Formats: sequence, C-alpha cells, structure tokens
Amino acid sequence: MEDQGKKRPPFRRTKYLTSKFPRKCILLLSLFSFNFILLSRTQFLWNKESKPDIAEIQKCAIENLHADLSFLDAASPIRADEFLDRRDRLARALVASEADAFILEPGYTFQYYGNTSQTDWEPWEPEERPFLMLVLPISTAGVVTAKTAFLAPHFEEGRVRMLGIPSRESELEIVTWEEHWDPYSTLLASHLFAGLEGKRKPKVVVDEEMRDFIARGLAGAGFETRGLTPEVELVRQIKSSAEVEVLRAANTGTVAAVRAMRPCLVAGLTEDEVRDILDASLLSVGFGLFFNIVLFEEDGALPHGGFVVGKKKLTQETMVVIDVGAHYLGYSSDICRSFFIDSASQPKRACLDQLLFFFGKMRLLAQTPRLPQVEETELHAEKLKVWNIVLDAQTAAAAQFKPNNSAASIDLAARKVIEEAGYGHCFTHRLGHGIGIKAHESPYLNKWNTKVALQPGMTFTNEPGIYLEGKFGVRHEDIYLVREDGDPELLSGRRAIDPYNP
Ligand SMILES: *[C@@H]1O[C@H](CO)[C@@H](O)[C@H](O)[C@H]1NC(C)=O
Ligand SMILES: *[C@@H]1O[C@H](CO)[C@@H](O)[C@H](O)[C@H]1NC(C)=O
Repeated sequence: MEDQGKKRPPFRRTKYLTSKFPRKCILLLSLFSFNFILLSRTQFLWNKESKPDIAEIQKCAIENLHADLSFLDAASPIRADEFLDRRDRLARALVASEADAFILEPGYTFQYYGNTSQTDWEPWEPEERPFLMLVLPISTAGVVTAKTAFLAPHFEEGRVRMLGIPSRESELEIVTWEEHWDPYSTLLASHLFAGLEGKRKPKVVVDEEMRDFIARGLAGAGFETRGLTPEVELVRQIKSSAEVEVLRAANTGTVAAVRAMRPCLVAGLTEDEVRDILDASLLSVGFGLFFNIVLFEEDGALPHGGFVVGKKKLTQETMVVIDVGAHYLGYSSDICRSFFIDSASQPKRACLDQLLFFFGKMRLLAQTPRLPQVEETELHAEKLKVWNIVLDAQTAAAAQFKPNNSAASIDLAARKVIEEAGYGHCFTHRLGHGIGIKAHESPYLNKWNTKVALQPGMTFTNEPGIYLEGKFGVRHEDIYLVREDGDPELLSGRRAIDPYNP
C-alpha cells in the first residue's frame, strides 16, 4: 500500500478523504461521480459536435481577417498600356520564333493579352463559331511592335467592339466572315497576310488553349501551324511589377484568410462547413471564389482530396490540410496550409473544465485510470515530425529559386530532404508550377524539366507534401518571385511557423 501510494502522488487527496469519510460513503460518492462524469462528457461532446455555432465562427473568421487588410494596399488593376506592352513583347518573341502571327481564342491567354476571358465573350458556353485574336509583328525602322487584329462572325462585329479590348488604334481591326463562309480561308485571304503574296504558307503559333477544330481548320486552309515556342511562353512567364503586386495581394490575402479562420474553428465542424466559412471570408475581401479543398486527417492523404470528402468532422487531433486559390483583379492565388486547431478554442469550456477537473480526481479515486492511447500519441508525434520535414523541404527549395537554376533543380532540392527523411515515396507530385492569371502556368517544377532555366520575374508555387495513406497528409504551399540577385521574394505574406501557427 505504502509503495503504491508513493508511486501515485496524485492520489494524496484520496488518502485525505479516506481518513475523513466512511468507506461506504466514499464508494457511493465515487460511483455517483463516475456516472456523472461519463454522462456529462458524453452530453458535452454530443452537444459540441452536433451544433458548432457556424454563424459565430463565420463572424469570428471575418472579423479576424478584416483586422488587417493592408495586403490589398499595393495592388491595382493592370493598366491598358501594359496590355499593349505585352503584345509588343509577344511580337518580338514571334520574330525570334520566325513566326508570322500568334493566334488565340477567348480564354486565359486572351485575358493576358486582351483583358477578355472566355466568359466575357460567351457568358453561355464556348461555341463553334471562331472568334480569334491575332498578334502580328510589324517592324518600323528596326523596332518591332505588335499589330493586333481579329477574326469574327460578321453579325458579332458590334459585340466585339463593345468588349473594350485595350488598343492603340481607335477602331479594332476586324476581319469578318459570313455564316456560309469558311472562316479560316477568309482569314488567309485577308489583307493581314497579303504581304506573303502566296509565296509561302503563313507560319502561325497557336495558343495552347486553342480548340483542336480551329487549329485543324487553320492548317486545312493553308496556314503552317505550330505550338508555343519557348520565346512565346517566356512573355507570360516573366511578371511585371504590377502583376507581382496583384499576385502578392491575392496570395497574402488567401493565406491571411486561412490564418484568421483557424483560431475560430472548433471540433465538430465538417470539411464542407470549414470550406464554406473560408469561402465567405474570401468573398468578404472582394476575392472571387476559385477552388477550396478542405481535407481532414486521412482525407488529406490524397493531395487533391477525393470525391467522397466533405463530411468528416474536425477534432483537436485532426491534421487539417487546406489548399485554396482565389481570384483577385484577374490573378490567381494558390496556397496550402496544414495545421491543428487550438484546444483552447472550445467555447464555454472553462466552467465545465473545472468541474471535470474536480470529478477527474474523483474518478481516479474510483480506480479507473484512463491512460492516453499509445497509438494516438505516436500518430500525433508522426504528424509533428512530418510537418517539420515538409517545412524543411520547402526551405531547401526556396533557397534554389535563383536565375539560371533549372526548373528541375528546385524540385530536386525539396525531394532530397524528404527522401533523406525516409518519406521519398510519399512525395507523389511535382514541387510546383508557375502562377499568374492561371493558378497553374509553365514553367513546371519537376525533376525532369532540366532544360528550362529560371529567370528574374518568374513566379512559382513551392509546395512539397508528404501523404501517408489511411493516416494523414501534410503540404505547405507558398509563392516565390525569382529576383535578379539574392534570395527570392515571398509573395504569400509569411511562411508557416508551426502546426498551431500556420
Ligand atoms: C479589364 O477588364 C475589367 C473587367 O473585366 C475592367 O474592369 C478593366 O477596366 C479592364 N481594364 C482595362 C485596362 O481596360
Ligand atoms: C545566367 O546565364 C546567362 C547566360 O547563360 C548569363 O549571361 C548570366 O550572367 C547568368 N546569370 C546569373 C545570375 O548567373
């Protein structure tokens, strides 16, 4: 007895009670309190998990986010002259590629060169009548600039003029085709290609988003078509300072929205509910919704989730992975944070905690010690370990974002850290990709991409991850700008510090 007493100092109070009350009384009291604890805990958990106050959590997330909106300050819409400058740079890239024109249809590339998205042109659906933009290099006194022209159905000419596509000329130059004509032969026969006088086929670069029937239509009519050249790709890969500021605002703001929401989250929320709360936060700062992948625990072991996620419930132990992108002023964010919620974030707990603390002692008295489950503890330790390995991998990759380093070298730097930690087989995707108007742009950071060299002005995601099937996943994603000299610049605010401070 004496030995046992020494091993368990918390039981001192037991001794004290034993000396004052008859044994039967103690037994009854302990039985009663044990039942009370069980009931109250069950009741508490049930209440807590069935009804988190979503409106209150939403309010908390938005208030936290709005406490500092300085991330919006430096960003402003891309100006008209920048669209013209992009087309001039494209014209020079076309000369370097020995191409006569670049041809594109409404989409992300058109948005980049002409401020017109696919839905700006067709709010309904992409249709079968081609509406194309052409950028042709013209050389005056040795200086190459862009001539911009369009091919459009005749009856749509007025609508094209209403798009407000930035232009040097007061009137857009539009080649029109009637419904019963072949649009591609019409284009080939137009004044735009008259300079070639039928001597050779016009060489045109078609955009990567160009639909196949249009590319085949052009080739069938007599154009020599080819895909993007490295020079043409480079135009959009190098970001201007205006673009960098918009990307910074979008990505810093998206991280801020996740960070502002985290302390408001409580156990019992589902993945779908957390997604909706974050969506509302993003909307509240004028961001457009884009994608928002919220994954709990083993759901996070699939990097992009699956088709059955959404209903899983949050606990204190859950490794939460949120990969989210929003749109702001035409640019995209794409960030990821992996974290735990605060255990202190349970509402109205204090009083009940004290009660449970007291009755917890009584429970010990009832000789039913509940040891923490070893499995739980090991899992938690592995989460912390993996979280830090992924952060180290991200740090290693960040150090390589330098001009002239190959796209492959960045991926390999992160992969080395994860491989050396023994988790190589769990880093199943490339390290990252370019980011701009689109979330995913070239160049792509994978270990095979050895030919592409980084250049100042390129912007990338840096997003290593480790995925343990059936257990959990961890990914950290931030945005980096490659600079002329020195370290790259972080465009997503600040990096994660620990799983409680993502
Ligand atoms: C680009 O388009 C957006 C809306 O789609 C518009 O608000 C903005 O003024 C346009 N920019 C220019 C330079 O025309
Ligand atoms: C990158 O390579 C180019 C040509 O290969 C060279 O001119 C330039 O100095 C290099 N830049 C750096 C930062 O090493």
